[in-house]
Amino acid sequence: MPTALRITRPGDVLPEEEVAALQPTIAEINRLKKERNAIVAAHNYMTPDIYHLAADITGDSLALAYLAQETDAEVIVLAGVHFMAETAKIIAPEKTVLIPDLQAGCSLADGITGADVRRLKEQHPGVPVVTYVNTSAEVKAESDITCTSSNAVAVVESLGVDRVIFTPDQFLGMWVATQTDVDIILWEGSCMVHDRFTGEEVAMHREAYGGVPVIAHPESPPDVLAEADYVGSTHGMIQWVRTNQPEKVMMITECSMADNVSSETPNTEYIRPCNLCPHMKRITLDNIRTSLATMTHQVRIDPAVADRARAAVERMLVVGRQD
Ligand code: 13P
Ligand code: SF4
Repeated sequence: MPTALRITRPGDVLPEEEVAALQPTIAEINRLKKERNAIVAAHNYMTPDIYHLAADITGDSLALAYLAQETDAEVIVLAGVHFMAETAKIIAPEKTVLIPDLQAGCSLADGITGADVRRLKEQHPGVPVVTYVNTSAEVKAESDITCTSSNAVAVVESLGVDRVIFTPDQFLGMWVATQTDVDIILWEGSCMVHDRFTGEEVAMHREAYGGVPVIAHPESPPDVLAEADYVGSTHGMIQWVRTNQPEKVMMITECSMADNVSSETPNTEYIRPCNLCPHMKRITLDNIRTSLATMTHQVRIDPAVADRARAAVERMLVVGRQD
């Protein structure tokens, strides 16, 4: 079944009455943040109320990782999915990292285990493992280096080898393979949200909307990326719109992100097949408030696993952002 199209025009998101109705909840969240010396770090896929009214910082997976390294706050409420909260805890083990709903998972993280990575290393002795951050701490601990969608190509090339094992996102891995001479050994994971986009629907909507530019996240299948004028992380896509200020754009990624950035880009109308991430959507203003009030759910990682995972994550942070 084709995915429903959603159009967001400037001014559509968070009308004044909605903001006013949310004020008591926001005031309580702000009070608790102060009391706990806490910040709310929100991924770009959060709903606009969280993104605009509750978050102290918003960003892609890489920005949230740097934040954990840099913030003075004692408590980080990670408004995102579990692997993002785990990454923050790996980087800042002395801080309390809270996730408002423990069920906020990720199909990529669920699709591979530490034992799977150990088997891959046995099958390809001596070949380093590059692992997308959308994985558990256990999987990161088995890897040489992590990457995000912002720096996957640079991370692969930073190793100075001619072959790497790339886990777990096959589409990101295939896209990296088109950008480098390094051979990529893939694992067959995928994102349940980006997997649903098709090149056919993107081409159909582009034609219907007079050749509108297409920007896409590299977790999308190759036929979608072949239709894209720009491929990049959620951060990269937002920057692309800010820089180019198109009249219309088709943003191929989780649907909430276009709503979030629409208020900062008043010259642009967003058109997209609308796929929502059920894991990201588990996080709400109400459970952020509860999380701060009850200090739940605290992310805990076996210190031996965290130490090995930290080496892989810190190696990536040195490579830095590429979009
Ligand atoms: P970014 O790192 O580009 O924000 O992507 C995270 C993610 O989960 C995409 O589905
Ligand atoms: Fe995971 Fe996809 Fe959801 Fe991102 S959008 S958290 S990759 S399931």
